[in-house]
Amino acid sequence: MSTIRTIALTSAAAIMTVSGAMAADAEREVFGTLEDGTEIEAVVLSTEDGITARIITLGATLQSLQTPDKDGTLDDIVLGHDTPAEYLATPQYLGATIGRFANRIGNATFTLDGTEYTLEANDGDNHLHGGVTGFDKLVWTISDISEDENGASVTLSLTSPDGAGGYPGTVEASVTYMLDDDGTLTIDHRATTDKTTIINMTNHSYFNLSGHADMRPILGHDLMIPASAYTPVDSGLIPTGELRSVAETPFDFREPMRIGARVRNSTDEQIMLGLGYDHNFVLDTADDDMALAAKLSDPVSGRMIKIYTDKPAVQFYSGNFLDGTTPGKGGTLYRQGDGLCLEPQVYPDAPNKPDFPSARLEPGEEYVHVMKIKTGVAK
Ligand code: GLA
Repeated sequence: MSTIRTIALTSAAAIMTVSGAMAADAEREVFGTLEDGTEIEAVVLSTEDGITARIITLGATLQSLQTPDKDGTLDDIVLGHDTPAEYLATPQYLGATIGRFANRIGNATFTLDGTEYTLEANDGDNHLHGGVTGFDKLVWTISDISEDENGASVTLSLTSPDGAGGYPGTVEASVTYMLDDDGTLTIDHRATTDKTTIINMTNHSYFNLSGHADMRPILGHDLMIPASAYTPVDSGLIPTGELRSVAETPFDFREPMRIGARVRNSTDEQIMLGLGYDHNFVLDTADDDMALAAKLSDPVSGRMIKIYTDKPAVQFYSGNFLDGTTPGKGGTLYRQGDGLCLEPQVYPDAPNKPDFPSARLEPGEEYVHVMKIKTGVAK
């Protein structure tokens, strides 16, 4: 048991003495071992009501999130793997922290102040989710664990050396997961650099609110995204640069809509290109400090989540590349429709689109992306 854990226990014990009860808890455990012997740890955050979030050091990944349904039955609402080897072997980024740059950069190049940088092309000619060895494939260090009467949290950190994946600057990144007693999971991403660079970190959880034990397709979920426009893409899923109105298209989620209602719409070119939904929605709410990005609910279990972000957009990806080759938790083979992602972010390919919000980070500045997953039951 490390010093950090010992300190955390000591402070938690002190709080217990003062308040007589401790609301939230953080437990450190071994998740598994990589082939080279590296131990992958997990920290399980839990509330008094039994909501738990398990975070593993491989990829600073949210490996499970257990929440109650309308009858109070707890089940896991995110996809994931049971072993570190599966996380390394599959290209689905289940629950992972994405960096340095979430989503795609066209032709795997971008120019900053006149210098052209070539990134790893790991998605055809394009760069996806930080490249071959993005933040999702690296082992993060647990730098802090804490528990108090409001919640429990874990902070993981990582140094990404100058040139990693082709990006300039040594980046110091951290992610803090904090579970509040009311069942809100806050994910706070931070980064600094020693050279001008670009950054766009997010969390790549695949949600299925029916729960893992009795999994039903997410096509029966209802989704609301407060976005009047989205960024249409080309055949490589790179935004064309246009902001297109969602009105009278399958992309209008301003009122809650059943996901399955329009995902098979073969008359919509963008649905065809994405193999379903795989698009960046421009949030109408984005001027707020912490904007609602999406509300997802499952009418059968009653489970609901609301996602908030301080970034201007959210990628709604309907899990189209889950093709029955990804072994998931508990021996479940994941297939199309088993999970969907809602990834708050700056727009894909922003470094090559001057009109898109900037992803630039200067030395001396701190990049911050705070997102919240508020769990609950629809009333
Ligand atoms: C993202 C992208 C998808 C896909 C998945 C990972 O969310 O938008 O196109 O690459 O990640 O499979």
